[in-house]
Amino acid sequence: MALPQLTGFLFGGGEGHGGGEAAELHLAYCCVELETETAAAVEQAPLGLGTLLANASASGGERRAALCKSCHTLDEGGPNTAGPNLWGVVGRPVASVDGYNYTAALKAAGGAWTYDRLDQYLKNSQDYIPGTAMAQRFAKPAQRADILAYLGSLSANPVAFPAPVVIDEETANAGEEADEAGEEAPGGH
Ligand code: HEC
Repeated sequence: MALPQLTGFLFGGGEGHGGGEAAELHLAYCCVELETETAAAVEQAPLGLGTLLANASASGGERRAALCKSCHTLDEGGPNTAGPNLWGVVGRPVASVDGYNYTAALKAAGGAWTYDRLDQYLKNSQDYIPGTAMAQRFAKPAQRADILAYLGSLSANPVAFPAPVVIDEETANAGEEADEAGEEAPGGH
């Protein structure tokens, strides 16, 4: 059966038909489904928050908190600016700074700011408290822990970090970087 070749020979006179065939062949390969993993699984904390905090760097967090200062004061008795003053925020009731006009969403959240709740708020404030006026996302658990360690230091009576909990060996190994930081943790049990 030499017909296809013959046809190609007959139409292959350099008038563009060959190009058309090539395009059709290419199309035949276009639709193989690719398996893609979503980023969501990758963003999850490999270590418990207590472990991350025990290895966190408050001074590193202070540097990262420069960003927060565009909207918050961090010193004791500092004024409310775009956001409320953050001195002593760990352990403080949510939405409780006098004179700051909080959103209804944040006021409705209730309770007090723990390290864990702050971690979730910083990870994705709009996801954690839909309708809050703050829109911040810090994807990296160790960087959030640095910021949290710094926030925790902004107090006359710092709240102790939650106790480290090892989740399991495999996931713990994924976070060996965290072991390099010194033992700056002020508290813990
Ligand atoms: C672009 C402005 C902006 C930036 C940057 C920002 N925030 Fe906020 N933040 C706000 C606003 C506005 C609110 C009030 C939210 C509301 O009322 O819903 C807020 C609220 C908060 C609260 C709740 C305080 C309370 O009294 O309940 C915390 C905690 C907080 N921010 C932490 C941070 C930290 C930590 C950073 C830096 C890593 C940061 N924010 C960066 C604007 C900002």
